[in-house]
Amino acid sequence: MKNEKDIALEFNEFSKNYTEDMIRCVPHYMDLVSSFTKNLPEDFKPEHILDLGCGNGNITAQFIPYFPDSNYTLVDASKEMIDLCQKQFQDYNVKYCNTYFKDFHFEEGHYDLIVAGFSLHHCSNNERQALFKKIYSALKKGGIFSYCDLMISKTNSDHPSLLKEWGGYVNSNFPDGEKWAWVMEHYKDYDNPTDYSLQFEWLKLAGFTNIQTPFKDGYWIYLQIQK
Ligand SMILES: C[S@@+](CC[C@H](N)C(=O)[O-])C[C@H]1O[C@@H](n2cnc3c(N)ncnc32)[C@H](O)[C@@H]1O
Repeated sequence: MKNEKDIALEFNEFSKNYTEDMIRCVPHYMDLVSSFTKNLPEDFKPEHILDLGCGNGNITAQFIPYFPDSNYTLVDASKEMIDLCQKQFQDYNVKYCNTYFKDFHFEEGHYDLIVAGFSLHHCSNNERQALFKKIYSALKKGGIFSYCDLMISKTNSDHPSLLKEWGGYVNSNFPDGEKWAWVMEHYKDYDNPTDYSLQFEWLKLAGFTNIQTPFKDGYWIYLQIQK
């Protein structure tokens, strides 16, 4: 894995054609992104929403039509990604934090909803465990933490078949093989996915008990967890 500082630079570059690349390189990307709003309790009206690793805003953009008056806080290490969000959400109550998760101040009991789309796999195992605890304490009682990600560790015995299937998907969209080579380079340097079962353990250790899995196809998973 490369130094954490490089993540911001990598995503500054990635931001140029981000959504199109994600759709064609990440199986089920749009299903996972749309899961964030499909599975909320009927009477759920979040006043404060935190988006961790907002990227170009694809997850927040799901919530805006349902909750246009909510207060959003968007956190991302990449300045270019934050700039894209600023252009997109200028008519809404959005606060931006161009920082790493470890430097972000999680206000205790403040948020109704904390979301993270494909961002937590960039954290080390220790950082992710610590983050789950901070997220738990930053949520109000009854608040929701939801996130989607690839949930298999690189040492899992099923990992080679995941790579084979994933490569087949990317190569069907980019037949010259160059994109898959780039994906694998990025994956080697910046991605630290973790097994689904281990994440469950860490969530429980953080204090969460009500953990749902509304979308799961192989290791591409969306979790919704209520405090
Ligand atoms: C794959 S993108 C996901 C963007 C968006 N949430 C989505 O679902 O499409 C991951 C984002 O997380 C940000 N990121 C990764 N690790 C981070 C960290 N430790 N602190 C802050 N931002 C981070 C990256 O800069 C990038 O914009």
